[in-house]
Amino acid sequence: MFVRTILTSKMTRNLYTKNPPYRYNSSDDKWACMLQWCGMPMKSTQPLIDTHLHLASEQFNEDRRAVIERAIEAGIAAMVEIGYDLASSHAAVALANAHPAIFAVVGIQPNHLHDLPSDWIDQIRRLATHPKVVAIGEIGLDYYWMKSPPSEQEKAFRAQLALAAELGLPVVIHSREAMPETIAVLRDAARSPGVMHSFSGDWTAAQECLELGFYLSFSGPLTFPKSAALHEVVQQAPLERLLIETDSPYLSPHPHRGQRNEPSRLVYIAQKLADLRGLSLAELAPQLWQNTLRAFPRMAETLG
Ligand code: NI
Repeated sequence: MFVRTILTSKMTRNLYTKNPPYRYNSSDDKWACMLQWCGMPMKSTQPLIDTHLHLASEQFNEDRRAVIERAIEAGIAAMVEIGYDLASSHAAVALANAHPAIFAVVGIQPNHLHDLPSDWIDQIRRLATHPKVVAIGEIGLDYYWMKSPPSEQEKAFRAQLALAAELGLPVVIHSREAMPETIAVLRDAARSPGVMHSFSGDWTAAQECLELGFYLSFSGPLTFPKSAALHEVVQQAPLERLLIETDSPYLSPHPHRGQRNEPSRLVYIAQKLADLRGLSLAELAPQLWQNTLRAFPRMAETLG
């Protein structure tokens, strides 16, 4: 209780979040730990970009605006809203239209291939002409849920890789229990690089993705103590090929594991990545910013 009183005092909060000379680095771990333990929101003094989230989810119907405001308050200067079916792709473009900080990615995820109208690819193509659509996604293979047979998943995956190539856009890849198969399709058919969303492979798989020119994006599981394979990937991969995301409302980071996730918690993932690389968050954030603009060139036109 005493510790909680101290930590919630305005002075401490300002020390942690506002004073420019204050930097997050490994010697500040004890502060980060105590704040996390107390459930205090973490903030970044340098702007960050959440490269993958689903604000259109009905889980945000009650408080979507407040969630976006909390994210901006925490230092999340831009968010990439990801479609996974036709409705959510339309919703992503609508959100991007309504909010300067939100960008959109449109596509059909492998668990949502059933009941598509015959002109679905034309609908995605039309949506992708919007200037704030920065990639085609999330697309790929999901052998965990296996909602459609592998052959159908691969057909839709390849059709959308071709669409991305036609439009000169990068791709955002969803791969679950199908990493070797996903990499094989990318090697054969990807004409533009992109992002391995919520990367969950080992260092060998990571190297193959890096060779294909892809970025590796890390989400909540990076903060879990037992994610040793992910920690190794983050430590071995070139810094300029790493991205972060929340995948909100899913994959909430430690110490909010199991709760509805929201973009303000991107700071926990950024801090973990910084710790793993022996950097302060203030040192890491500008690098992540540049990485994101390189991965999504259309964002650079707006954000510079
Ligand atoms: Ni997602």
